[in-house]
Amino acid sequence: MSVPVIAVDGPSGSGKGTISRQVANRLGWGFLDSGALYRLVALAALRRALPLDDADALFDLARNLDVHFDAGGAEGPGVFLDGQRVSSELRTEACGDAASQVAALPPVREALLARQRDFRVAPGLVADGRDMGTVVFPDAQLKVFLTASREERAQRRYKQLMEQGLSANLQSLLDELAERDRRDTERVVAPLKPAEDAVEVDSTHMSIDAVLDEILSLAAKRG
Ligand code: C5P
Repeated sequence: MSVPVIAVDGPSGSGKGTISRQVANRLGWGFLDSGALYRLVALAALRRALPLDDADALFDLARNLDVHFDAGGAEGPGVFLDGQRVSSELRTEACGDAASQVAALPPVREALLARQRDFRVAPGLVADGRDMGTVVFPDAQLKVFLTASREERAQRRYKQLMEQGLSANLQSLLDELAERDRRDTERVVAPLKPAEDAVEVDSTHMSIDAVLDEILSLAAKRG
């Protein structure tokens, strides 16, 4: 029997990352943050001053990316690029924005496909992204499409930034999310959309714990 996968897809700020990580912890399964891979390609490109639309150069970069992940400590999971810890830099809006540009290039997606599938090891994998259920793991045992209204997603991001002592402007966050949603849903290859067999969960009025319980109970039914 193949190694089970729970695919969690959805737009930026829907809480996929937090929830998927917790689902993986509760089940004792591995976790794939596929967005981090696109962010890493973007960061490596920015550092090498490569244009974000140079498909050939970005294909090579994505193929040869020197990255590794660890469980991390108090400061969260560790992500390393060329041997250097880049976890905080990866989470910036600039990096997310650049990631959504490189993610629109088919060769970049192609180069990252095998790397993502390598995460599928026993006893199971929770994979978080935009195309986990549609492209990367089409045979996933459970596919969740996690959404929340754009206003709610912007509010959550605003609160997060405030808690980190960073400045933020709600309207700019809303505008950035609108642009990112547009790019992610309108791109030709692997656009953000629910798989036909996905269960849609709207988290707008739900707590993290409620979403977690919902996904764990869906997983138990498919187990
Ligand atoms: O999820 P995260 O915000 O870290 O992803 C950054 C960007 O990477 C997204 O806006 C999206 O354009 C891209 N991405 C993707 N496919 C995935 C994961 C992320 O295109 N599976």
